[in-house]
Amino acid sequence: MDFMTKMKNQAKADVRTIVLPEGEEERNLTAAAEITRDGIAHIVLLGNEAKVRAKASDLSLDLSGCRIIDPLTAENFEEYANEFYELRKKKGVTPEQAAEIMKDPMYYGTMMVKRNDADGMVSGAIHTTGDLLRPGLQIVKTAPGVSVVSSFFIMETNSAFGDNGTLLFADCAVNPMPDEDQLASIAISTADTARHLMGFDPKVAMLSFSTKGSAEHEVVTKVQNAVKKANEQRPDLIIDGELQADAALVAKVAAQKAPGSEVAGAANVLVFPDLQSGNIGYKLVQRFAGAEAIGPICQGFARPINDLSRGCSAEDIVNVVAVTAVQAQTR
Ligand code: ACO
Repeated sequence: MDFMTKMKNQAKADVRTIVLPEGEEERNLTAAAEITRDGIAHIVLLGNEAKVRAKASDLSLDLSGCRIIDPLTAENFEEYANEFYELRKKKGVTPEQAAEIMKDPMYYGTMMVKRNDADGMVSGAIHTTGDLLRPGLQIVKTAPGVSVVSSFFIMETNSAFGDNGTLLFADCAVNPMPDEDQLASIAISTADTARHLMGFDPKVAMLSFSTKGSAEHEVVTKVQNAVKKANEQRPDLIIDGELQADAALVAKVAAQKAPGSEVAGAANVLVFPDLQSGNIGYKLVQRFAGAEAIGPICQGFARPINDLSRGCSAEDIVNVVAVTAVQAQTR
């Protein structure tokens, strides 16, 4: 059974409520109809009800299973705006600004998740990654014990690497320049995700252009220190580095460059040292190796919030909603 079929089946077994703030957008509507028809999640669409219904009718979509909420006329609008004001007043937000900000469906949807009025949120078909992350970081914040929100891709390759060809890559979408503490946190979060979401026995490689001291540079030292901190914080996990990508993946190279490492040659989680390398890395594997890249999926939020690519299809939205619903179950 492929990963997405597994996620959809798992989502259906204990159905959760997911809010789609881009509720007037065509791909979101198409996905919402499919999700409710198939029993993957209960869907809340945010938007003007008349516009949503008119568009659904144009597209011949059955939205009878979905709730539609217009943030501008919602009865709990004031409560949400007040809660946002309380959360952000230390940052200089006034009550008037809070009320204005809460009109934005991205903020309203995030507040629904914070207040348990929805179990998760998926957005980004028409918004940027930053537009999605900022309300999440300001309102939902990180899960207990997690210092940084990050993201991962599930890379399904046609290779013998990782777990039968499947690996997690992190962080490829959130933190531009993680410091050593943040990098350690990303490694730990991704190991936990690998275990709980993927069922892997995680072997985490912290990537670099150096293997075990073969090169010296401050960016190599950052990775070495992150490995040390991650191992100190979570001795139960198998995290090693710094490793070059070939040493992380290829047993023969590992035997030569990193003998005795539990991870080298057997990694199923690759943690990149910064966002430039992570983002470039996943796209190269996707394009050159024809790998399926599922994500970016966020990790580390106190409640699940996930991004879409602006080039996404309705089917991509269905998939991300299924993963978000499963994250809500396993939270
Ligand atoms: N984890 C936890 N908290 C964070 C994080 C994080 N990763 N990043 C920022 N914060 C906190 C900040 O400390 C701040 O807290 P506070 O306001 O309570 O003091 C709050 O979140 C909001 O931070 P801002 O300063 O408003 O946001 P910032 O300008 O730092 O932006 C963002 C954060 C949006 C994540 C930014 O780093 C970003 O744009 N990242 C890259 C996103 C991107 O473009 N990705 C590539 C495209 S995706 C793709 O190709 C698949």
